[in-house]
Amino acid sequence: MAISSEVGARHAVPFFFFMVRSLDGSDPRAIDTAAAMLRAGKVVAFPTETVYGLGADALNERAVAQVFAIKNRPRFDPLIVHLPDQEAAQRYVAVLDQRATALMKRFWPGPLTLVLQKQPIIPDLVTAGLDTVALRVPAHPVALALLRTVGKPIAAPSANPFGYVSPTTALHVQEMLGDAVEIILDGGPCSVGIESTVCALVGGETVILRPGGVTVEEIETVVGPVRIASTSQSDARSPGTLPRHYSPRVPLVLLAPGEEIPHPCWGERIGLLTLKSRSEVKGYSTVEILSKDGNLVEAAANLFAALQRLDSLGLERVVVESVPEHGIGRAIMDRLRRASARN
Ligand code: TXA
Ligand code: MG
Repeated sequence: MAISSEVGARHAVPFFFFMVRSLDGSDPRAIDTAAAMLRAGKVVAFPTETVYGLGADALNERAVAQVFAIKNRPRFDPLIVHLPDQEAAQRYVAVLDQRATALMKRFWPGPLTLVLQKQPIIPDLVTAGLDTVALRVPAHPVALALLRTVGKPIAAPSANPFGYVSPTTALHVQEMLGDAVEIILDGGPCSVGIESTVCALVGGETVILRPGGVTVEEIETVVGPVRIASTSQSDARSPGTLPRHYSPRVPLVLLAPGEEIPHPCWGERIGLLTLKSRSEVKGYSTVEILSKDGNLVEAAANLFAALQRLDSLGLERVVVESVPEHGIGRAIMDRLRRASARN
């Protein structure tokens, strides 16, 4: 894939690290600088509790077009609009029913994105021509400070080339996008580490389009039973749901639940990604453990960084252990299935 080889080339050229300005997100002057750039129609990378985002003024189509260009993202893939609080949502949404307000009240700020009927003020480029808009209030203090200071809704996809592993540190953004972004606000490693849950509230039904940081079980405690959009289907209108996505360059081999971890042959350069410590495995060139005691929340936080490290080692392939598919494990498995899917 063209994107992947470009990423590879950037890994090999360390001087790119010095061409981007990475600013300390806890410094109010850095927030002011980033906000001024966003108001001027520039693109800024910033931290959220899920993954780093590549932000632009959502009401400025030229600025949003730059986000698509930097990411090499197809224009049919709509963006999430980030807001500082629930009140701001009223301006961009046609109808806010009781389900929507209950979910906002319970999970915002936090890793839940709600897809709702949009107001015409949101440009078609942001929503890929759909009559709905995806909204979210992130929980990261740097993101909230930026959103409050800029005073505009910020359209932001994850700050990675389209289809590649999402960034969970400022350094990942630098490595992946190089000098294509002028400023990266550094807010440390993302605490959730996996993208927001995308939940559509259209036509009376509640549909999970993408499992993420807020679990299906948590959402059901607020709105009752939900439908989970099929993971095997590719929906061109929501390409976070494309079968192949979140993929490193190295091929991943995802084991079935409970499948025994295979032993590599002599001389093979194979990596292993496991949920928890396993003393019995031998012969792997490298082993990444997502959580020593198999904690799924910790595993989600470590997932993308582990995939990035494995991808930098020039391995033949990586064997990946399945994780239990409940709670945030559902989102981890969703990412692992897509990351291991072949074109
Ligand atoms: O955690 C996150 O959600 C991160 C941070 C930066 O906020 N953002 C993120 O954005 O993951 P992105 O662009 O990588 O994923 C957005 C997902 C895509 O699957 C997109 O198709 C879906 O949201 N989406 C956006 N607007 C939509 C809409 N109107 N209807 C259906 N799906 C939509
Ligand atoms: Mg993404």
